[in-house]
Amino acid sequence: AHVGIIGCPFSGGQPKAGVDIGPLQLIEAGLLDDIKGLGYGIVFDGQLEFEHSEADDPPIGILKRPRLVSRVNKTVADTIEANARAGRLTLTLGGDHSLAMATVSGTFRVHPDACLIWIDAHADLNTPLTTESGNLHGCPVSFLLGLEGCDIPEFSWIKPVLKADRLVYIGLRDIDAGERRILREQKIKAYSMHDVDKYGIGRVVEMALDHVNPNRDRPIHLSFDVDALDPSVAPSTGTPVRGGLTFREGHYICEAIAETGLLVSLDIMEVNPSLADKDAVKQTVEVGRSLTRSALGETLL
Ligand code: ARG
Ligand code: MN
Ligand code: MN
Ligand code: MN
Repeated sequence: AHVGIIGCPFSGGQPKAGVDIGPLQLIEAGLLDDIKGLGYGIVFDGQLEFEHSEADDPPIGILKRPRLVSRVNKTVADTIEANARAGRLTLTLGGDHSLAMATVSGTFRVHPDACLIWIDAHADLNTPLTTESGNLHGCPVSFLLGLEGCDIPEFSWIKPVLKADRLVYIGLRDIDAGERRILREQKIKAYSMHDVDKYGIGRVVEMALDHVNPNRDRPIHLSFDVDALDPSVAPSTGTPVRGGLTFREGHYICEAIAETGLLVSLDIMEVNPSLADKDAVKQTVEVGRSLTRSALGETLL
């Protein structure tokens, strides 16, 4: 099997510099050899190059850098679609989580029957009407669901490829009021840290898979925001929230999904090597590598 690696040095969906050097750090730390070592062929032509924020991109409502975020994601979506059409597994290295507009769009064009498993402290489910920050990394899922308020012309290329019952969250612990309402109204299944404590990660992953993939026959897109992990495990990220997944819980999720044999697309998002000290950065980059290896089946060999 082959893995296409899509390096996305993009930070426009949030305000903190540095998340755009996440992909290069993961690669320089040895991610390509990790993946080759698992027996995969690799397709990687260097990380993508993006335009930089320009002056002529005024807010839409309170959405920040909307045209930049839209244009970058539109081109990344096409790249990911092409990778999936070539029959390769997609590994997208972020970059901020607004990039899921692209990763999910591109993947679901080729695998319309796929399900989305979203590992995060946050739901990233704000709409242009509910967002309090205006940061688009807090909004990708609502665009993919085609929720009310997302039908703005600048983002019209994003199709509602995702159905609410094909989405499940694990790790949530910081949800905005508007997101809470959407979760309820759309009947979206979500396992918070409370559920992880209550049932244990093994049961939670099983229940999550039973919900989005009851017959274990749908392709899986796993979108992993490293801030799902506890800040003691992954400190270098822009919006850390205490009380997160342990090292093992995070890896267990990846291992259990590898075990299904159904993974078609993996996002490793929000590694920001400019936040925290040198050791903390190294630790976070190493965790990004080992989550990737687990999702690609390291412990199954
Ligand atoms: N809910 C907050 C917002 O909408 C935080 C989002 C954090 N998202 C992330 N991908 N780290 O601004
Ligand atoms: Mn080859
Ligand atoms: Mn998050
Ligand atoms: Mn996120």
